[in-house]
Amino acid sequence: MLELNNIEVLYSDVILAVKGITVQVPAGSCVTLLGANGAGKSTTLKAISNLVRTEDGRVSAGTISFGGQDITGADPVAVVRQGLIHVMEGRKVLRHMTVEQNLIVGSHLSDGQEAKRMLDEVYTRIPRLAALNRRTAGYLSGGEQQLLVIGRALMAKPKLVMIDEPSLGLAPLMVEEVYQLLTELKASGLTLLIVEQNTRVALELADYGYVMENGRIVLEGAAENLKNNEDVREFYLGLTVEGERKSFRDMKHYRRRKRWLG
Ligand SMILES: Nc1ncnc2c1ncn2[C@@H]1O[C@H](COP(=O)(O)OP(=O)(O)O)[C@@H](O)[C@H]1O
Ligand SMILES: [Mg+2]
Repeated sequence: MLELNNIEVLYSDVILAVKGITVQVPAGSCVTLLGANGAGKSTTLKAISNLVRTEDGRVSAGTISFGGQDITGADPVAVVRQGLIHVMEGRKVLRHMTVEQNLIVGSHLSDGQEAKRMLDEVYTRIPRLAALNRRTAGYLSGGEQQLLVIGRALMAKPKLVMIDEPSLGLAPLMVEEVYQLLTELKASGLTLLIVEQNTRVALELADYGYVMENGRIVLEGAAENLKNNEDVREFYLGLTVEGERKSFRDMKHYRRRKRWLG
């Protein structure tokens, strides 16, 4: 459904943030992009929605297609119209507006009647938002704001939703609630591309994953295989071969050994 073909992304014509990556998101699947801070995950999502251009960035090589159509460098509104929605990092709610007003904003491409229908659907799917409908968005908890920005994305009747770090900074119970919702959305047929640093939860939900480092994909595979991959376990899950959590001392020791050997 979504395909990135060897794309590069440049900021300000000089900073190469993504260095030739190929990613496939089949219809109905959940794919996750993993990696540490600065790896190029957000840039990849912004290249797809073409929000990079608001940061003086552009796709400088390669192609992006969605539903068989080339969307490389397309107008962001046109991309949304085709059913591809980008939920940005940092829960960008309209802080002074109510939950309901925030949701309505998400349906700005539909007429009033359709918006009302979608609103009912979102409230059914995310009952917590129905209970909070008149609250000011800026006063919601981080988890509630995350549910809100996902709800707002649903208002646009998407085929594919890309979500950037939905679990960042949330308490474990809230992470569970957000991922429960994502699991339900996936079961209802929505295609998902999720960027995460929380490798464990992302690999529970996803079918397939890509690990990024320094603008490149260094590892990819079925989620099951990644969970059992030794490097992923050690560096991203923090587990040893025996499944124990590695202590900081072990890690330091390992790095020192690596430095000597390297
Ligand atoms: N607007 C920007 N202008 C210039 N460089 C940027 C911009 N946004 C991100 N970068 C750089 O691109 C690289 C990838 O960043 P990003 O995509 O945000 O990584 P991640 O989401 O994996 O943490 C980093 O080196 C970052 O400094
Ligand atoms: Mg990011």
